[in-house]
Formats: sequence, C-alpha cells, structure tokens
Amino acid sequence: MTQDELKQAVAAAALAYIQPKLEDDTVIGIGTGSTANMFIDALAGIKGLVNATVASSEASADRLKSHGIPVYDLNAVDQVDFYIDGADESNAALQLIKGGGAALTREKIVTAVAREFICIADQSKLVHTLGDFPLPVEVIPMARSHVARELVKLGGDPVYREGVVTDNGNIILDVYNFPIPQPLTIEEKINGITGVVTNGLFALKPADVLLLGTSEGVKTLR
Ligand code: A5P
Repeated sequence: MTQDELKQAVAAAALAYIQPKLEDDTVIGIGTGSTANMFIDALAGIKGLVNATVASSEASADRLKSHGIPVYDLNAVDQVDFYIDGADESNAALQLIKGGGAALTREKIVTAVAREFICIADQSKLVHTLGDFPLPVEVIPMARSHVARELVKLGGDPVYREGVVTDNGNIILDVYNFPIPQPLTIEEKINGITGVVTNGLFALKPADVLLLGTSEGVKTLR
C-alpha cells in the first residue's frame, strides 16, 4: 500500500472509532495536515451526525466549512470529546513530535482540552527514539536569536523555517540533530526558554490511542 492509502485507512478507522460514540452534544477536535485532511473528508460523509467541531488551524477550519461541517471557537464549547490528528513521529509510549505543518500550538491547546486524543498515522511515523524528525518550536519573533542560542546549549541545531508565519503570528525554529530519549524533560526544558510559545513534543500529554496504518491493516496502540 502507498503512504496515502495507509493514511486513508487510518482516517476511515478513526471515523469508525468515534461514530458509535457520537451524541448530539459531541464536540470533535480536528487536527492539521494531510492525514487530518483525509479524516475531515471522511467526516463529511456523516456530517448530519456532527453538530460541532473545533479546529487546530485556519486551514482545517476552512476545509471543514467547505464541507458544511459546523466549526466553533474553542472558547464557545463546554468540552472537546475527541481530538483526531496526525503526527510527525510517535514512540511506543505514544509520545509525539508534531508541528511539521506549523500548527503545533493550537494542536497542543486542543489536545489539552480533549478527553481522548486519537492519533492517526502511517507506519513510517512509529520510531524507537523521537528526534529524527526535526523538532518544531514556535517562537515569538523578537526572541528568535535568543531561543536559537538556548537550543544550541541543549545540543540541537535550530534552523529558522523561512517564510512561515504561524496562525498566531509567530515563527518556527526546527531543531535538527537532536535525538530525544527523554521527551518529558526536553518538552519542559524548551517550554521554559523565554520567548518560546511551545514546542512540538507531546509527551506531558501523549496520545491516548494511536491508529497506525500498516501493510497488515490498521493497528490500535494504547
Ligand atoms: C501539523 O502541524 C502537524 O502536527 C501534523 O499533524 C503532522 O505534521 C502530520 O502531518 P501529516 O498528516 O501531513 O503527515
């Protein structure tokens, strides 16, 4: 199967996972990226059953609205029942690197609220140790050089993601050559640097379920 077919399979699996649990007041959190887009398109097939979503990016909100699916501001809902999103990497503990699409901060906010975070990814995303994928860090623009120097002190090689401005008006530093055997510690350390909005490690609140697309079918990891 191609990577796109595996992504389609996990998008369908996520829909099958939540559909029996949908109630009138269910709020679904929607992530960002190519796998999340496939989930949005799958969700359109049952949109009559979906009364409320919140989105982790303007791009996903636009895609939901283009299907006629209602999108709410996070502050306007009482709860988020499920959050469905992709990842750039996951380890076996379902700790993730996210932010390849620069939406990490809003993704982390919706994750913080969600009762259940269902991660959907193809098998290429499952790794032993996080960090082959460069770790995205969202930074207040005036702090870019300061944060970059602090990231070098932690052992990484930060690179400014040219031409990218986040939905929050900030910039992204991608940290290369930075294996992360202790994600909890590193997530906290980087978030402690003044000028950092957040970093793309989801270890303090990892996924609850990983639906992993493999050539043998979709595997459910917890
Ligand atoms: C968006 O900022 C990211 O966190 C995405 O969830 C991640 O990059 C996965 O994207 P794909 O589904 O396109 O691989």
